[in-house]
Amino acid sequence: MRFLITAGPTREPIDPVRYISNRSSGKMGYAISEAAIEAGHDVVLISGPVHVDPPRGAKMIAVSASDEMFDAVHRHLPDCDILVMCAAVADYKPANVSSRKIKKRDQKLSLELTPARDILASLATQDRTFLVVGFAAETDNLQENAQKKLRAKNCDVVVANDVSGSDSGMESDENEVTVFFRSGEIRNISRAPKKNIARELVKLFVNMRENCLTKKMP
Ligand code: CTP
Repeated sequence: MRFLITAGPTREPIDPVRYISNRSSGKMGYAISEAAIEAGHDVVLISGPVHVDPPRGAKMIAVSASDEMFDAVHRHLPDCDILVMCAAVADYKPANVSSRKIKKRDQKLSLELTPARDILASLATQDRTFLVVGFAAETDNLQENAQKKLRAKNCDVVVANDVSGSDSGMESDENEVTVFFRSGEIRNISRAPKKNIARELVKLFVNMRENCLTKKMP
């Protein structure tokens, strides 16, 4: 199978030296990439700026802003069987990017933000042949919010994790996830190192994609 995986945060520029970003470490997306390679699959990994070693054997594409990630995903989609949108893509970006460094003044400064393009949502209407996996990072109402995302972004699966604590989710080496399927099925993967969770997820995605293929055959 050919995996297209996104990981890490995006950086939305404010001026030549500043940006808006988030705490995503990229560890989960990198672990899924490693697990997929280990299981014999091809991986293209589109990554925002992170401090994790690139998985050996993956084709790496480094991006920074959400617009670059959007373009890179769309460029590589035609060659993938399973899209895993693990990246914490910005929801908002500065409405105007200053070409010069904004100078300090002794008064309040407001930044106007505009919605960033939603990569997953942009695929919702596509007639597609690949499996779409979304992620949901939630601090509350995990099930309700994850299921809402699954429907709104027309995903096949949403992998949700609670990011309210410091011992799982963002930046941590461990995670605990709940997988929501389009059929309404829900599966928990209990707390474990991200590497183990990644292996489980890869098996699950590959099975789902294989089942889709079997069903489509005459
Ligand atoms: N996502 C995306 N493009 C964006 C924002 C998010 O493709 N501009 C994807 C993420 O990669 C993830 C899924 O959408 O797979 C859900 O991301 P998340 O940040 O949990 O949810 P949002 O839709 O951004 O909603 P909210 O931040 O309000 O929870």
